[in-house]
Amino acid sequence: MNILLLGSGGREHALAWKIAQSPLTDKLYIAPGNAGTAQVGENVDIKATDFEALRVFALERNVGMIVVGPEDPLVKGIYDFFKNDLTTRDIIIVGPSAKGAQLEGSKEFAKEFMLRHGIPTARHLSVNASNLDEGMAFLETLKAPYVLKADGLCAGKGVLILPSLEEARRELKEMLGGMFGQASATVVIEEYLSGIECSVFVLTDGEHYKVLPVAKDYKRIGEGDTGLNTGGMGSVTPVPFADETFMEKVRTRIIEPTVNGLREENITYKGFIFLGLMNVGGDPYVIEYNVRMGDPETESVMLRLHSDLVEMLIAMHRVELNDYSLIMDPRTAACVMLVSGGYPGEYKKGLPITGFNLAEATGCILFHAGTTMKDGRTVTNGGRVIAVCAYGDTRQEALEQCYQTADMLSFEGKYFRRDIGFDLNREP
Ligand code: AMP
Ligand code: GLY
Repeated sequence: MNILLLGSGGREHALAWKIAQSPLTDKLYIAPGNAGTAQVGENVDIKATDFEALRVFALERNVGMIVVGPEDPLVKGIYDFFKNDLTTRDIIIVGPSAKGAQLEGSKEFAKEFMLRHGIPTARHLSVNASNLDEGMAFLETLKAPYVLKADGLCAGKGVLILPSLEEARRELKEMLGGMFGQASATVVIEEYLSGIECSVFVLTDGEHYKVLPVAKDYKRIGEGDTGLNTGGMGSVTPVPFADETFMEKVRTRIIEPTVNGLREENITYKGFIFLGLMNVGGDPYVIEYNVRMGDPETESVMLRLHSDLVEMLIAMHRVELNDYSLIMDPRTAACVMLVSGGYPGEYKKGLPITGFNLAEATGCILFHAGTTMKDGRTVTNGGRVIAVCAYGDTRQEALEQCYQTADMLSFEGKYFRRDIGFDLNREP
């Protein structure tokens, strides 16, 4: 089968690496891809949201499956676009309908969905210009810190966590006044949940589901989880506290009500569900839903997926995930992200990257995030540049491998965190 993968980051290189290993894959195209995806497939210069160009390309190249990496095309309705067209309706789309993608596209929709299905999440109130007074009163019922979330997509920047009531009040007004444009015309005020986070990935065919290896990502730029939020500085899998007891709660309290809730509401959903969970004293709560895989979690999760991803996606399409046995690699996998100096603020692009030969000889797996080719050389092309990934018998061993290899790759301004997984070391 010819497969078209959409996106251009480290997540997409990891997915492309795994898809390319499947004997079921004939030709793999990545739109638009990066310098890394070009090593395992053919990059196509089409934006992931240019549906019409993707349609023409898919028909021309006899594409049988489209795997959607980022959320944007899903929220914009790529599933419906392909399914509503007679010429493309048979192409397998890995990802939900536009309605299903609202689980990520609208925080208010996600909260209301959880409320309808009794799924544990923080207490909340949705506020817009018409009920600002109610919002102010709700803030008074909460304890510090205060969580304000823009309803719509904000590329991971729409959540504010504020230490005082005064700041919360002020920022709420700012957000409703257009701080994030239309995305914050509605704001969800939430109770703060105190605990440790993890990322649970589920593949559903609309009836059944499979749970992929659980991972943890590290979002802050600085060691010890300090400084600004980034797209993610590293990840590890498995997560020690996500043991059988915890995961049983996740399945019965969260995954099953989610999959059943989507079905009961006739929301078409065949794709990945990413549950951002908070472990509050051993009980899981949903912080957020995403309708895609996580980045940089995918980079370590794909290492631990022993099963053939394409075979699993075909089982999803056939609504046969109940019969599918998912095989995971028992080892630990880790990912350390090399980023551009200045990121997540201003940074340079187009800087040559050296050391690939040395780094690749270590046994580490390098997934490109923000890279491109210029005059025959691989150069930086984004804030997050390369994800260095490795296996280990322990988390420490996998991370040590990553750090050694991270030191072998060079580009001007290179930075990475050396404390990925630090909080798990404190766990029993
Ligand atoms: P989100 O964009 O929804 O993932 O939120 C970004 C980050 O804010 C999450 O990864 C959490 O670390 C934090 N966060 C969001 N909601 C809450 C909450 N209700 N309580 C505590 N932390 C939260
Ligand atoms: N790693 C978090 C995300 O992909 O949203």
